[in-house]
Amino acid sequence: MCGLTIKKDPNLLIGFESAEDAGVYKLTEEIALVQTVDFITPMVDDPYHFGQIAAANSLSDVYAMGGRPVTAMNVIGFPVGSLDISVLKTVIRGGLDKIYESGALLVGGHSVDDKEFKYGLSVTGVVRPDQIWSNSGARDGDKVILTKPVGLGVMNTAIKAKMASDGQIKEAIGIMSRLNNISSEAMREAGGVHACTDVTGFGLIGHLYNICKHSNVTVRLYADNIPVVSGSLDYCQMGLLPAGAHANRRFYQSHLESKSGVPGFLLDLFYDPQTSGGLLACIDPDRLDILMDKMSEKGESWCAQIGEVTGPGQKIIL
Ligand code: CO
Ligand code: CO
Repeated sequence: MCGLTIKKDPNLLIGFESAEDAGVYKLTEEIALVQTVDFITPMVDDPYHFGQIAAANSLSDVYAMGGRPVTAMNVIGFPVGSLDISVLKTVIRGGLDKIYESGALLVGGHSVDDKEFKYGLSVTGVVRPDQIWSNSGARDGDKVILTKPVGLGVMNTAIKAKMASDGQIKEAIGIMSRLNNISSEAMREAGGVHACTDVTGFGLIGHLYNICKHSNVTVRLYADNIPVVSGSLDYCQMGLLPAGAHANRRFYQSHLESKSGVPGFLLDLFYDPQTSGGLLACIDPDRLDILMDKMSEKGESWCAQIGEVTGPGQKIIL
């Protein structure tokens, strides 16, 4: 987008310049639109599960802004002729189930003939303008929480390589198809959310760096506290990493300082690109206990405190 003239508008509360999860446009003092679009290629063989995962992944950006999804549209590239149309129907059915679970409605979509199958959603949500969770509000002393484990990109690589067990595939599908609605509800109820995003293609480090950069803070992570998908550490030690993890490491490693005791393969997992990852948030330390209680009450068992904001400036991750 460099070099293009971008119009400003007082009602455009969140544009694309600050790498937020969605755009936010104020309609009235009480209500703002949250808009996002995302589509991905299949990472699992089962079309129904792929539909669920892709839809959960698309809906997540609305939750990451503190919003509630209202309407969704299918975005489809389908290889007509090489895949049976029933596959597409099953994918859409999986997506539709997630749209309905979120409380949103499917209102349409668009499809093209495409050599590589792609599916996702354009989602419109709503949020109160004074309750937007941006990535620029983290404060010194905030606790950093993550609601899903990392390692999903490694597991997807193992699935594609036919190395993952049935149990591992099932677990990864369960995590990726889980909506971030309940964890966002727990965060809204607990209050004190100063910054929020979701962990997707840039990995934990990349998305956390976005918060550090735009909030102008330093974050200390506790490597041992970061939840990881069981099995992903083994694959990581074998060197089974998606290309995106290497790209993320190259791009973000200058912003990370790690102690020598943290093994390289564990760091690799923190760069691992996630599909439909968890919410990553900085919350008021006074609200942490309440939040963790709410998370466990609601069955968000992966949620963990993974670090804290240790000071202004520097914009790095320790
Ligand atoms: Co996002
Ligand atoms: Co996105």
